[in-house]
Amino acid sequence: MNITTSNKTRLENVDFSNLLFGTVFSDHMFSCSFTNGKWQVPEILPYGPISFNPGLQVLHYGQSVFEGMKAFKNKNNQVLLFRKEENFKRLNKSAVRLSIPEIPEEIFMQGLNKLISLDKDWCKYGPEYSLYIRPFLFASSECIKASSSNEFKFMIITSPTSTYYNQDLNLVVEEKYTRAAKGGVGFAKAAGNYAASFYPTKMANLKGFQQVIWTDSSKHQFIEECGTMNIWFRVGDKLITPSISDTILSGITRDSIITLARDLKIEVQEKEISIIELLNAYNSGNLIEVFGTGTAVAVSPVKSITYRNNLMSFDSSIDSFALALKEKLQNIQRGEESDKYGWTSKVI
Ligand SMILES: Cc1ncc(COP(=O)(O)O)c(C=O)c1O
Repeated sequence: MNITTSNKTRLENVDFSNLLFGTVFSDHMFSCSFTNGKWQVPEILPYGPISFNPGLQVLHYGQSVFEGMKAFKNKNNQVLLFRKEENFKRLNKSAVRLSIPEIPEEIFMQGLNKLISLDKDWCKYGPEYSLYIRPFLFASSECIKASSSNEFKFMIITSPTSTYYNQDLNLVVEEKYTRAAKGGVGFAKAAGNYAASFYPTKMANLKGFQQVIWTDSSKHQFIEECGTMNIWFRVGDKLITPSISDTILSGITRDSIITLARDLKIEVQEKEISIIELLNAYNSGNLIEVFGTGTAVAVSPVKSITYRNNLMSFDSSIDSFALALKEKLQNIQRGEESDKYGWTSKVI
């Protein structure tokens, strides 16, 4: 790996008490090119502009996939990565679907480790801080034929984040637009999935909702995800979440919450969930809590769900499964609690 470090850190210019998610970037970036049919020698260089011609294939056909993962600082000033193997596997699963060559494990892991170790001071200690990590792959040939690219780039950039409060989450059930259809790319973290979600989300925002609940593409009767999170329902003392399919992103937080909940002796069921079933559970007083899970927020309680003329509201402030699971997850992520699952790994 070729490494060029920056002459001067930009750290002192950053106001860590006022970080806007995804807008501040650490000193370095990782980059590796796929040319002549193989991945070339990777490099780390100061974070900054990259140059390309307007014919860059990804700009025209969206052949691009990405990951979202996090690192945390423990009280001994060590940086802990959370379930990096899972993000690596999912990135390659997404890559295959988008006809992008898979990244060899050593390029991903060595690049990630070296990058984070160079920029470890960007990962602050404290319950509100983490370092968001964005690995991404994109088509980099200069060619505007509607075809798979011959050349690709794999990059990793990182961004310090903080969460001071959770925004109220009022959701609306989406019955017109679709996030993913059977046989499509919903299970992949394909850039285009997100581009296609912005307009329906904007329409929901205009009506006062923060996110939409995505439903199945054929009848809009079954619940899939909410915004960019997997969704969970507490019915009585049981947690239910939609089972994974090719229209649902298999969340790493989701998988972690299943394990943690079962360890806390909470029954978890993965199944198809219809909106009517939810409404019935709510009307009979059994739908107690709803929450979303994802890397960015960990666990996010849902305040309300609107379905046509029905408003279902929830109070997550007392005896909440969401908050108990969030605390447990974050304690493991930050090294506050022993990690019997082997989910965290130290950056060296
Ligand atoms: C569509 C979608 N669903 C679910 C998730 C949650 O996945 P994870 O827990 O791996 O972050 C994400 C975020 O990555 C997402 O983009």
